[in-house]
Amino acid sequence: MASPLGAFRSSSGGLRTTGGPRVSRKDRIVQSTDTDALSSKYSAYKKGYLADPYLEAIVSGFLVQEQQHYHGRGTHSAGQFVNKMPIINIGSCVRHLAVTRLVDLFLESTEKCQIISLGAGSDTRPFSLLAKYNKQTAASDNAADVKLIYHELDFAVTTTKKALTIFNSPLLSDVIYHASPRPQTPPGAEIHTPDYHLHAADLRTLNATTPLLPGMDPTLPTLVISECCLCYLQPDESDQVFSFLVTNFGHAGLGMILYEPIGGNDAFGQVMVENLATRGISLPTLQRFPTLQAEVHRLADRGMGVPRAADMMYIYERWISREEKQRISRLEFLDELEELRLLLSHYCVAWTVTPNSPAAWVDAYETQLPYQV
Ligand SMILES: C[S@@+](CC[C@H](N)C(=O)[O-])C[C@H]1O[C@@H](n2cnc3c(N)ncnc32)[C@H](O)[C@@H]1O
Repeated sequence: MASPLGAFRSSSGGLRTTGGPRVSRKDRIVQSTDTDALSSKYSAYKKGYLADPYLEAIVSGFLVQEQQHYHGRGTHSAGQFVNKMPIINIGSCVRHLAVTRLVDLFLESTEKCQIISLGAGSDTRPFSLLAKYNKQTAASDNAADVKLIYHELDFAVTTTKKALTIFNSPLLSDVIYHASPRPQTPPGAEIHTPDYHLHAADLRTLNATTPLLPGMDPTLPTLVISECCLCYLQPDESDQVFSFLVTNFGHAGLGMILYEPIGGNDAFGQVMVENLATRGISLPTLQRFPTLQAEVHRLADRGMGVPRAADMMYIYERWISREEKQRISRLEFLDELEELRLLLSHYCVAWTVTPNSPAAWVDAYETQLPYQV
């Protein structure tokens, strides 16, 4: 059967999309990190740490395509969907709660706005947010009335899988095509509806002069999410992404949530870096921005406003209620408290808005933080 992805293995082992550029081994490894994120989230979900009505549909859709089109040799492998250690599950849960909380606070303090998710991978956040904020807008209603426009960017190989997964799932299609007719034939690597845009885009091609991608609106307040994504780019490449964002969206107010590893210089961080290196993964920005302070100055120096940052241990202790912590503690036996502390203190979330942004979220949320400019 002809693959709708049109993908085949080149003799050198690289993955090529028909008519498209050859994908380097390094890029393929970076693409495969989406499986790490998805399988970790799925493990936390299965153990009851977090709720996500769309996760089963995404996991099964990606795995089916993996089997059909890559014969299990692509970037998503069923073998990775096993139970993770309790500290990994708690880490996924804290990350999910922190980003969700920040996104909700931004959306609650803004009227119509757009989200741009960098390296979105298989993330299910667009489904929950579009269902929560937009779905009451029926196909016949004026799509201009929707509150949220959601953009997801990733490599074409990943967006193709996501587009097909959405097309094949009534649950996901119902959310994505609520304001426009569902297509009769499978989409390619992109989806464009009035409030959802899936872009096949290599972030390394973005800079201050890159034209806006379809559906991007420079007049709307914008929230950018980078959840474990910009860390895979070289510092100068990620700077170009910031230039693209500030040039195009700075006028109407720009916010950002950046979730990244930190602390690569200490013993635990070195082990983390070495473990990734054995898989061929490097995190160039971790060397350059290894602390909360460096992450905050990174954002401020690139015109991204007045940032705040906290490591995930701080978030676990301060943002998660006592009741929720008690619930979490009953899910699995955890005897590696020191390891949990070490793990959580090696990831951070930084968030910021430019002063002209209508979102009041930086100061509204918390002012006493480990690091702020
Ligand atoms: C660790 S995954 C995170 C996925 C998602 N943000 C999440 O948190 O579940 C990193 C994602 O960034 C994407 N990515 C990394 N470099 C990229 C680039 N240059 N262009 C587009 N996507 C990229 C990868 O393909 C992958 O899907």
